[in-house]
Amino acid sequence: MKKILDMITSEMKQAFVDCGYEESYAKVTLSNRPDLCEYQCNGAMAAAKAYKKKPIDIAHQVKEKLADSEMFSLVDAVMPGFINLKLNPQFVADYMNQMTEAEQWGCEKTENPKTIVIDYGGANVAKPLHVGHLRPAIIGESLKRMGRFLGHKVIGDVHLGDFGLQMGLIIEELRDRQPDLVYFQPEYTGEYPAEPPFTIGQLEEIYPCASSKAKEDPEFSARAHEATLKLQKGYAPYRAIWRHIMNVSLPDLKKNYESLDVTFDLWKGESDAEPYIPGLIQELIDKGLAYESQGALVVDIGEPQDPKELPPCIVQKSDGAALYSTSDLGTIIEREKEINPDWYIYVTDKRQELHFIQVFRVAKKAGFVSPDKKMSHLGFGTMNGKDGKPFKTRDGGVMRLEQLIGDITQAAYEKIVENRTVSEEEARETSRMVGMAALKYGDLSNQASKDYVFDIDRFVSFEGNTGPYILYTIVRIKSILSKYEGRADKILMPVSDAEKDLMLQAARYSEVVENSFEELAPHKLCQYIYELSNAFNRFYHDTRILAEENKEQQASWICLIALVKDILTACIDLLGIKAPERM
Ligand code: ARG
Repeated sequence: MKKILDMITSEMKQAFVDCGYEESYAKVTLSNRPDLCEYQCNGAMAAAKAYKKKPIDIAHQVKEKLADSEMFSLVDAVMPGFINLKLNPQFVADYMNQMTEAEQWGCEKTENPKTIVIDYGGANVAKPLHVGHLRPAIIGESLKRMGRFLGHKVIGDVHLGDFGLQMGLIIEELRDRQPDLVYFQPEYTGEYPAEPPFTIGQLEEIYPCASSKAKEDPEFSARAHEATLKLQKGYAPYRAIWRHIMNVSLPDLKKNYESLDVTFDLWKGESDAEPYIPGLIQELIDKGLAYESQGALVVDIGEPQDPKELPPCIVQKSDGAALYSTSDLGTIIEREKEINPDWYIYVTDKRQELHFIQVFRVAKKAGFVSPDKKMSHLGFGTMNGKDGKPFKTRDGGVMRLEQLIGDITQAAYEKIVENRTVSEEEARETSRMVGMAALKYGDLSNQASKDYVFDIDRFVSFEGNTGPYILYTIVRIKSILSKYEGRADKILMPVSDAEKDLMLQAARYSEVVENSFEELAPHKLCQYIYELSNAFNRFYHDTRILAEENKEQQASWICLIALVKDILTACIDLLGIKAPERM
């Protein structure tokens, strides 16, 4: 199904061409003067320069050509040369009817599906999942859903931090606590036990303990570094401990992501890059890209057009250890071999921006990926507390994700039971959905790269640009639909401004979904959902749907609001949010 803006634009192009102007001037946009018109074309201004005419004369000429068009009810030429447009109500109603019948309400799957890898979890194994891991999970999940909805083959990879210093710290702490374990007997050659030497509870205590010890005890810290290096080089006893850590931690991590409704196709991690590292270092040396600098191996990545000089990418430390960059390069080689994606998308904290510039440039310079392959880094800002500083618990610690989800669910619960009588069970179930909507929408409605303030009271409010407001709108429509008993299958011409506006908002849907994905901008989808909800609520305020006596008219409205509900539901699903039946 054609997008409404494309239909309007082609009509406009024809008019420009018929008047003897290039069609490229016929660009149509949403109106920025909704009091005057619905869509507008500013092309006469640019055309005026090229054709050495007055813009208003061109605008009038185009207007004449469009006089018979069935698409518009108004075409106006306004000084200095704007062309203001209003759509014919019948054209809009026809478009609505086509949407109701089309698959995915007219948001077509692409004819040119791409294979896309989204790397978006980034949890660090054996460290508790904290609020810093909330944003990549929520944003990445949303992009994955949008990409799939549009027909792309999208592969989500959690890309765990599973091979870093935390492993060495745990190994050495374990040695201090239980020196008799076979892993610490160099002469031991038998099989390693299948049972882990710790439970998840113990592991959660071991890591923070080792981490603070390392800060005070340089000797312990040095041992932990050495153990990490030995693990990375494949030392068998440490590999065995590592496997225990993974086996104990992963189920817990999965449970945490599940509670956010976030899923991954691949549960790979930094450790999977390890086999590719020696080869890639050698290749960088052989190609003359990597050179020694102060004992380390580095690759220059600067390009003449850089506004400021960028530091080289370090690919190996002086002690031979690999780094974060090396591991990302190894992962790229693995993904090229196993997936060969058309597009890489990494969702991480924006402070990693330089890291990804370096990694992408080295990968392309070395020919690990072809130079024209799309590689994107979506860097997000920090989630701050009301004090404007990175979000912390009341006592100043890093807040665990579980606790944050618990807090917001509780706040939603209190809102729900405030003025309503619902069963305890239903209130609990609904508050989970409302809490999740508050949390996710509160995050996604901000442009990803910006910092935002996590404000529970605002996020769970049923009014304003919030998740619960959107859910409330959907629930309100569901409630009207459940009370209607007739059959509704045709949408008639809009009879009020509010109704026409609602239709025009609904008509924008496929265009918004496509743009939001192309620009990796879920906040644009949120903005649209908010505008559509507002348009519905204005219409609802003006229109007594269930009391309407003209049955044909009533059926038309029912059909329209059912379409709006379907669009809103599809859109929130793309954000990873579900609506309850009642709230
Ligand atoms: N584990 C990393 C962190 O906590 C994020 C990993 C992101 N993905 C990647 N391929 N570098 O910061």
